[in-house]
Amino acid sequence: MRVAAIVVAAGRGERLGHARPKAFVPLCGRSLLGHAVAALAACERVDAVVPVLPPGYELPADARGAKTRPAVAGGARRQDSVAAGLAALPGEFDAVAVHDAARALIRPSAVTRVIEAAERTGAALLAVPLRDTLKRVRDGVVVETPPREECWSAQTPQVFRRELLWEALEKARAEGRTGTDCAQLVEELGVRVHVVAGDADNWKITHPEDLEAAARILEGRR
Ligand code: CTP
Ligand code: MG
Repeated sequence: MRVAAIVVAAGRGERLGHARPKAFVPLCGRSLLGHAVAALAACERVDAVVPVLPPGYELPADARGAKTRPAVAGGARRQDSVAAGLAALPGEFDAVAVHDAARALIRPSAVTRVIEAAERTGAALLAVPLRDTLKRVRDGVVVETPPREECWSAQTPQVFRRELLWEALEKARAEGRTGTDCAQLVEELGVRVHVVAGDADNWKITHPEDLEAAARILEGRR
């Protein structure tokens, strides 16, 4: 199975609040995108990496490498950016690993695990069990407490057979629906998406204080 990673980096990073888009913000001397691309490229199962950037931006030098393909311009919503990356993908790839540039702490070993699961099943994502009890709340009132042992936090990469992801994005487009991740759109095809245990530290860099916490994690790995 030939696998391409699509790294979505076209968001503005409003919650981080930097002048530059989030993927270009430095962490321990390398852009978030550079970290994510390097980790994916270090995984033997990944054959190519396609960065999806905000329109008008060029690929940072620290995201270049032997597996890095030309960057693609993203869209208004995350799923539009994924669709742009997928549309630009050469026909040689059978599966796609969609990854958030904002998850700069991803480890190559986790990438391998989720790719191998998708190879067996067609669709898989990394996730970690929730620590807290989840409450579904409407107008400030709890409407449901889902069983905690059934609640997981979804991460990326999320890996799909190429035609499955294409079909999921196309259906969402036709029906005017937005998903918060790719898996949701694939689930809505009635396809079983398999869950692979991820690493607790593969969280999404979102708020300003996350950069310092991420730097401490990277330093701890050296
Ligand atoms: N993303 C994208 N295209 C969009 C929106 C998001 O490629 N139109 C990417 C982001 O660059 C990020 C990932 O999707 O790597 C996860 O999104 P998020 O963490 O929400 O990043 P931003 O949208 O950039 O941040 P914010 O929501 O704070 O503006
Ligand atoms: Mg966002």
